[in-house]
Amino acid sequence: MTTKSLPLTPELHAYVVAHGSDPDEVMRDLIEETLAALPAEARMQVAPEQAAFLTFLTRLIGARRAVEVGTFTGLSSLAIARGLAEGGRLTCFDISEEYTGVARRYWARAGVADQIDLRIGPAGDTLRGLPYERHLDFAFIDADKVGYPVYWAELVPRMLPGGVIAVDNTLRGGRVLAPRDADDRAIAAFNDEVMADVRVEPVLLPIADGLTLARVR
Ligand SMILES: C[S@@+](CC[C@H](N)C(=O)[O-])C[C@H]1O[C@@H](n2cnc3c(N)ncnc32)[C@H](O)[C@@H]1O
Repeated sequence: MTTKSLPLTPELHAYVVAHGSDPDEVMRDLIEETLAALPAEARMQVAPEQAAFLTFLTRLIGARRAVEVGTFTGLSSLAIARGLAEGGRLTCFDISEEYTGVARRYWARAGVADQIDLRIGPAGDTLRGLPYERHLDFAFIDADKVGYPVYWAELVPRMLPGGVIAVDNTLRGGRVLAPRDADDRAIAAFNDEVMADVRVEPVLLPIADGLTLARVR
């Protein structure tokens, strides 16, 4: 097999962002504030091209009931909320009041706060508060990596047929090939679990740090 994916130089990445993924003023301010206030954690934020893709994808599938696990300062949730269909709602799960306090301000500024319901607590527990029936059409998993199998197990039975689950960091900087720590091992095992799950049709895209999309049967 030949490799057709290009490694992205900073210049090529800037070109990609400039061609369809340029953040607007609200998102730019959010990215800058996160970097200034939380320099050590800012890399947790999705890449701008992922944010644009999340809006594109949620709009493409006409998402009305969406969930995000791992909200941080709100960039991906803002992107998802912007793609929701008329009357659509996003439920966000995170453990941090501090991080999501930033998110709340930006949701308000972007005019999407009324569409978002935030639940604070360990997502393995709080996800169980969702109705145990097929009612979600989009889910984005981007929290602690060892929790992914639990979030997956809670979300798949709640997805409508044709719904999509997107999962971030599924390449772990390439370390899925040679895991170095517990998070790497968790993702490598999770990727195999997704491949073996007959309830979904998955594809792993080499966007940013790896983005798995799984269409639920
Ligand atoms: C990678 S960041 C999410 C980035 C976010 N999607 C964005 O684009 O800005 C991971 C988030 O997961 C949250 N988190 C970590 N462990 C968690 C848990 N057990 N339950 C819920 N959230 C958790 C952290 O507080 C952090 O905000």
